[in-house]
Amino acid sequence: MTNEKMKVNMTVNGRERSAEAEPRMLLAHFLRDELGLTGTHIGCDTSQCGACTVMVDGAAVKSCTMLAVQADGTEVTTVEGIGTVDNLHPMQQGFWEEHGLQCGYCTSGVMMAMIGLLNENPNPTEKEIREGLEGVICRCTGYQFIVKAVQKAIQIMAETDRPIPAKEAVGEVRS
Ligand code: FES
Ligand code: FES
Repeated sequence: MTNEKMKVNMTVNGRERSAEAEPRMLLAHFLRDELGLTGTHIGCDTSQCGACTVMVDGAAVKSCTMLAVQADGTEVTTVEGIGTVDNLHPMQQGFWEEHGLQCGYCTSGVMMAMIGLLNENPNPTEKEIREGLEGVICRCTGYQFIVKAVQKAIQIMAETDRPIPAKEAVGEVRS
C-alpha cells in the first residue's frame, strides 16, 4: 500500500474541513492531529474502550475503527459540535447535573455513544441504556452516575422539547 498522502474532505461540526492524510491514518488521529479536535479521546486504539466515539452520518462510530479516507465525504460530529459552554447539549447538561464523570477521559465518547443510542431509541429503558454502554469503558464511575446522567438528558429533552440529533450542531468549542 502506498503511504502517499491523500486529500480528505468532510463536514465536521457543520463546517467543511479538508486536510491531507496517509491512507493508513485513523479517523481518530485525523480529527485530533489534523483538525485539532482533541475532545475525541484515544484510550486503546483497538476498538475496546469507546473513548474515540463520534457520529458519522448520524451513527455513533468508534473513530479508531475507521480510516480517515473512509470518512471522506461524510458528515462527522465530534463532542465539540454538540454544544457550547453557554448552550450545553442536553446530554452534556445531564452529565453536568448528575455528575456522570470523574476523570472525564471517557466522557466525550460515552456522550457520543449515548447520543447515538437516543437517535435510534429516544426513550430507552434503564436496561437498554446499560446495554448501550457495553461498547464504552469507564474506569472511574461504576456507570451508575452515567446511567442517571443519560436519564436526566432524556428528561431535559422531554421538558424542553429539544431533539437529540447530534447533527443539530450548535458550534465548535476547542478543548
Ligand atoms: S480508542 Fe477507539 S475504542 Fe478505544
Ligand atoms: S470518568 Fe474516568 S474513565 Fe470514565
